[in-house]
Amino acid sequence: MKKDLTSINDLSKDEILELLKKSIELKSALKNQPRLDLAPGTMAALIFEKPSLRTRVTFEKAMQDLGGTATYLGPTDIGLGKRETVPDVARNLSRWVDCIIARVFEHSKITELAENATVPVINALCDEEHPCQILADLLTVLEHRGNLEGATICWTGDGNNVCNSLMLACGLVGINLRVATPKGFEPRQAIVVRAREYAKLSGASIVLTYDPKAGAKDADFVYTDVWASMGQEDEAEQRKQIFWPYQINRELMAQAKPDAKVLHCLPAHRGEEISAEVLDGPQSIVLDQAENRLHAQRALLAVLLSRPK
Ligand code: CP
Ligand code: NVA
Repeated sequence: MKKDLTSINDLSKDEILELLKKSIELKSALKNQPRLDLAPGTMAALIFEKPSLRTRVTFEKAMQDLGGTATYLGPTDIGLGKRETVPDVARNLSRWVDCIIARVFEHSKITELAENATVPVINALCDEEHPCQILADLLTVLEHRGNLEGATICWTGDGNNVCNSLMLACGLVGINLRVATPKGFEPRQAIVVRAREYAKLSGASIVLTYDPKAGAKDADFVYTDVWASMGQEDEAEQRKQIFWPYQINRELMAQAKPDAKVLHCLPAHRGEEISAEVLDGPQSIVLDQAENRLHAQRALLAVLLSRPK
């Protein structure tokens, strides 16, 4: 594996499959013991410019499970790029810690950290991608379906950071993806092109549509995320008017396969992008997804922290 996970593009299909295999192994091994010293004495710095429940807790827990520790640096702690330049932060942290995990606004801050750090840098969400979320999602799909290739996922809502990473990953591993968004909220064209290049090799199809019902038709999984991402709070009201036809509700789920499952990276807004009935209903596997953040990130850290320095 490369030194960093800045984007799903940093991974090959085989590396993704290896990480999923390792996630399953560690999930099982750590059921019966509190810790596996795969990265003893290591430390991760968690730079977070935005709030987080799942990502922060699962990375802290994953470090502890592997015999290491983590230090959390919140929005007001270091002033990334303000109090100190991004390269200076990367170079300083590289002298003390073994890994930098960063949640930032601009993707360029992730790449700048990666270029200037001698230790691995992991993208814990930026405006363009959320690769760690997608590793957990693939693990969840694999566990529920038994395989990845040939599955059909419908993404409905905003063509955002999670959607971008999902497209790239589906293209790589051979999952058919339909992305249903309102006009003007499609995923980034350059990422669509890249995902389709991957899909050509894996045999998957990546389809963009404005029709959520067509997107959900016979899908195995229907996936959504908030309509206004962190940093877009000012647009939330306006977006609600535009996005309501893309809500996951009973009617939309009737288009999917009868045993289709519902995915959401969380946090969720009941009554907006998803009805409470569906989010809390029998088809929802969102808590499996949330749990799998831990298992997927343990595998990721185990691999990155054991790279030869
Ligand atoms: N899904 C996810 O990344 O959740 P948090 O924002 O709580 O970390
Ligand atoms: N798209 C959302 C994902 C949150 C985990 C955001 O960026 O806020």
